[in-house]
Amino acid sequence: MASLQSNNQKQVSLAIVLAAGEGTRMKSSLAKVLHPIAGKTVIHHVIDAVSPVAKELSVVVGAHRENVEEHISTIASSANKVFQAERNGTGHAVQLALAEAHTSGTVLVVAGDTPLLRTSTLQDFLEAHVELESVASVLTAVLPDPQGYGRIVRDDLGAIVKIIEERDADDDAKLIDEINTGVYIFDIDALREASKKLTSDNSQGELYLTDVISLIKESGKVAVAIQCNDYTETLGINDRSQLAECAAIMRDRINDAHMLNGVSIIDPVTTWIDSTVEIAADVTIMPGSALHGTTKVASGALIGPRSTLTNVVVSEGAVIIESRATDAEIGREASVGPFSFIRPGTRLAPQSKIGAYVEVKNSTIGEGSKVPHLSYVGDATIGTGTNIGAATIFVNYDGVEKHQTVVGDHVRVGSDTMLVAPVKIGDGAYTAAGSIITEDVPAGAIGVARAKQRNVLGWVLRRRSGTKSEQAARNAGATESKSQE
Ligand code: UD1
Ligand code: CA
Repeated sequence: MASLQSNNQKQVSLAIVLAAGEGTRMKSSLAKVLHPIAGKTVIHHVIDAVSPVAKELSVVVGAHRENVEEHISTIASSANKVFQAERNGTGHAVQLALAEAHTSGTVLVVAGDTPLLRTSTLQDFLEAHVELESVASVLTAVLPDPQGYGRIVRDDLGAIVKIIEERDADDDAKLIDEINTGVYIFDIDALREASKKLTSDNSQGELYLTDVISLIKESGKVAVAIQCNDYTETLGINDRSQLAECAAIMRDRINDAHMLNGVSIIDPVTTWIDSTVEIAADVTIMPGSALHGTTKVASGALIGPRSTLTNVVVSEGAVIIESRATDAEIGREASVGPFSFIRPGTRLAPQSKIGAYVEVKNSTIGEGSKVPHLSYVGDATIGTGTNIGAATIFVNYDGVEKHQTVVGDHVRVGSDTMLVAPVKIGDGAYTAAGSIITEDVPAGAIGVARAKQRNVLGWVLRRRSGTKSEQAARNAGATESKSQE
């Protein structure tokens, strides 16, 4: 994958992403590297970080092979997929990738389960590798809790001697807090040579890639350990607790970037924004909100509290309060909520309003039009300046098919109207409250479709005698005289 940026920045010839592991500790039917964080899979984050610094990409797959390969094809179509049928360790995985590689130069190796790695860190790592004329470099970090990671053993002068896995470490080695992040850069030829010498003489009976460092060192070549300043970048995911920990760090990173760009996030801890979302300056996001997918929010908009937007385009100055919207467009200065449900195919024109407890699906609401209370709007086109009365239902489904309703400009639909589709309400028309409209209403007409009211006089006095209602009615001068037809 030739990168356009390659002119002014260094690249390795090949990056190998290791993703064949079982991910047993996730206890999941989904491959570990396919779990999502901030709107992308774990391995998608890794590949995004690696791609700018590598000319070619190889991914070693094994467990959940089909699903992982299919995903790799969609996110990095030019990547080479190497199949590791038996998981004989990280060293074995790299041997297989090298067998299919025909390049020379440098190779970057990373694990597919470290989604917080940044491209800039990999670039710095590569620069250090080149500057120090290293043949084998390992990226390390000092962890507050190094348990579970391979430890970096250095000599008195501070040079790396070897890496010891936790399981093979004695008590002294376990005290070392500098760990192997699982990110390496090698000279390919030196790696090829050293990887042939790997043995499975360790507690797990596997070929450890980590042993390559001491093998290269022993052959008289330069091996170095380079420390990464931000240890959070190197955290790996092995179980769901670590998945949540990494997701929280990613969330904070994303929120910090938006805040530095001028977005007000009132409570960053409860605000979850996918890495794919775009937000302009002077947007305010209230607590408990989530922005997913291709959502784009323009300047001056107010989102939340407790609103969830998925693939929604929000224009300047729009307001969305305590609501959920998916695959929709919210126009300039339009308002939604509280407590509304905006479903796919909804387009709200500028200054339109969807009020409280309203569901809208596959409908266009014209400029300045309002659906303020307790309504369902489905498969409708509503013109400009129209008001839809409280509790109106667009009856779009006849039990078999969905039908369209067209409402014109400056219409007044009375409260509790049923608009039985297909039906058209002309410009400037009215409907009487409580009507069941099954026929088109021409422009300028009022559609009235309900039973005429009849009052049965004295009914309460005859049929509910002895109640407070009867007493109140008598106090008001009601008599028992018969009904009026
Ligand atoms: C590994 C390192 C350890 C380091 C840690 C950093 C080794 C022996 N140990 O340990 O020093 O501190 O990473 O996170 O390398 N994989 C394969 N094929 C295999 C085995 C693993 O592709 O046969 C892949 C896994 O899918 C994973 C990566 O290699 O993405 C690392 O394997 P994992 O089992 O997670 O290694 P750790 O025990 O974390
Ligand atoms: Ca791991």
